[in-house]
Amino acid sequence: MAKSSMKYQGSKDYIASDELMNSVNIAIALQKPLLIKGEPGTGKTMLAKSIADSLGKRLIIWNIKSTTKAQEGLYVYDTVQRLYDSQFGDHDVSDIKQYIKLGKLGEAFTSDEQVVLLIDEIDKADLEFPNDLLWELDQMSFYIPETRETIVAKHRPIVIITSNAEKELPDAFLRRCIFHYIAFPDPEGMERIVRVHHPNIEKRLLQQALETFYALRNVPNIQKKPSTSELIDWLQALVVGGISPNRIKQELPFLGVLLKKNEDLDTLLNHLHGKTQASRPVQPSYSSLNRYRY
Ligand SMILES: Nc1ncnc2c1ncn2[C@@H]1O[C@H](COP(=O)(O)OP(=O)(O)O)[C@@H](O)[C@H]1O
Ligand SMILES: [Mg+2]
Repeated sequence: MAKSSMKYQGSKDYIASDELMNSVNIAIALQKPLLIKGEPGTGKTMLAKSIADSLGKRLIIWNIKSTTKAQEGLYVYDTVQRLYDSQFGDHDVSDIKQYIKLGKLGEAFTSDEQVVLLIDEIDKADLEFPNDLLWELDQMSFYIPETRETIVAKHRPIVIITSNAEKELPDAFLRRCIFHYIAFPDPEGMERIVRVHHPNIEKRLLQQALETFYALRNVPNIQKKPSTSELIDWLQALVVGGISPNRIKQELPFLGVLLKKNEDLDTLLNHLHGKTQASRPVQPSYSSLNRYRY
């Protein structure tokens, strides 16, 4: 295959800026992990899917939780199953290999073809986690003492790591990555993104919705600002609900699709009233909010 055809150039369902495409291609060329930061909803997870789709590679997703340990990405030794088999089973348990279960990194390393490996939301785990993976990501290999086996990557995976910027990542880890920050899209950029999901949406409905969406995001002290996915859902609701463009600003229909925290509804309500946060708490319902205007 010609080398140029292996360049990432976005995909039909994903809008990537030139800078983002550049970062992806540099990371691939230098064979370094690409660390993507940005607030929720800026398309970090979706980027990995887009890269895999457009390069025709399998995507392996490792979803990180607060309890995830680096070791789990390599392999786990299922001692419980082995014990069970030794007591109740009738087959040979001396071959430990059958109880070694590869994790997502192990799966990516042993794949016969190059894969895209997404380590999603790395900042969810504790601070040790990124450091614990440094060696394996550098060397693209790890050792399994139980079987005295070394797993070496047949093909270095394209590694995409995402972070919601909740925590700072360790310096040693940052040094080894190509870094890219996806800024929240401006209205023009957002319009392009939305059109991927709603290609036939009426221009004026979209304009009104975007205006209201960005106004809501700008209300001070909103804790969970509505993001791209909320906007996409909201537009769907507006279309299905047959809401006319003029009603959007006045009634804020289906507000619960955009703001999902009670505190944020309070904040908005107070803001619309021109009150301060410290005033008497109000108990708005989604429907009562419909009566208030900007
Ligand atoms: N650049 C983009 N092009 C197309 N859709 C996008 C883009 N950015 C975000 N989206 C849409 O917004 C939603 C959230 O994207 P996601 O990748 O889950 O964000 P993140 O992982 O950064 O929180 C998805 O439904 C996705 O389709
Ligand atoms: Mg995500």
